[in-house]
Amino acid sequence: MIKKGIILAGGEGSRVGPSTKAISKHLIPLGDKPIIFYSLSILMLLNIKNILLIVKKQDQASFKKLLGNGKNFGIKIKYIIQKKPKGLPDAFILGKKFIKNDNVALILGDNFFHGQGLIEFLNNALKNFNFGASVFSYNVKNPSAYGVIEQNIKGIKFVEKPIKTKSKKAITGLYFFDNNVSKLSSKLRKSKRGELEIIDLLKLYLKDKKIKIKDLGRGSTWLDTGTSKDILKAGNYIEIIEERQNQKIACLEEIAFKKKWISRKLVKSRIKYYGKSEYSNYLEEILNDDK
Ligand code: TTP
Repeated sequence: MIKKGIILAGGEGSRVGPSTKAISKHLIPLGDKPIIFYSLSILMLLNIKNILLIVKKQDQASFKKLLGNGKNFGIKIKYIIQKKPKGLPDAFILGKKFIKNDNVALILGDNFFHGQGLIEFLNNALKNFNFGASVFSYNVKNPSAYGVIEQNIKGIKFVEKPIKTKSKKAITGLYFFDNNVSKLSSKLRKSKRGELEIIDLLKLYLKDKKIKIKDLGRGSTWLDTGTSKDILKAGNYIEIIEERQNQKIACLEEIAFKKKWISRKLVKSRIKYYGKSEYSNYLEEILNDDK
């Protein structure tokens, strides 16, 4: 079981520049809501209500303005500052006190997951999780941009951004770890590019045969929003689905309201707070449909 989650929302975001000189990539709109809503919604859909948000110092005030302590979404959000982008495993060093003796989920704040049955699939993995690490793979055309899982008769191998590989299986930005993760992350050494690498952390779990790899399958969608083009493409995907179904992806108040984590009254106050927007209109509809 996992009840705690970390969202990594620091980083330079240089590939989305120049906007990211002034604003966190995770606060840029994707469709009609900030990028961070999508990763946060995944944790909420997995019933993870205790969340640590890792941000850059200059962005903290904006994140707090947007998300506060999480009360408006029926969850608890704590913040911690990452002074420099030291790499993904830094989340577990910074989050040591937050994790304590528990298992933890990590999601990258710029990742997008969607699909029929996806939450049920992830929830099963989460409920059955008791030790080691679980990673989720996804077939992509450009594996060289990601950490990749290579498999042959000798077994499994993790390779970071391979120039050449026969594998198409990228490691997505959602991970489950047991409470050894902070200790193991502290043992890691910086790679050539000057960061702690998640691949190196996964290799430690692999060495101990304590890693599970689950494939998301073609019925699910995994996108990242690392570049401006990625944001545009993901935005188009979201727009098409939301427009067609008249249902929003990652509407945080909708998720919280349907889970009975927040009251009708609170949703009404959110509508007032957000003011005129498509997002507010949608929340009105949710309340009307619930009558
Ligand atoms: P990356 O895409 O590796 O890096 P980035 O977002 O800084 O972008 P760029 O390479 O264009 O400069 O990061 C993936 C996600 O993890 C993203 O949401 C930012 C986050 N992240 C941190 O919060 N801290 C870190 O130290 C790193 C490396 C990433």
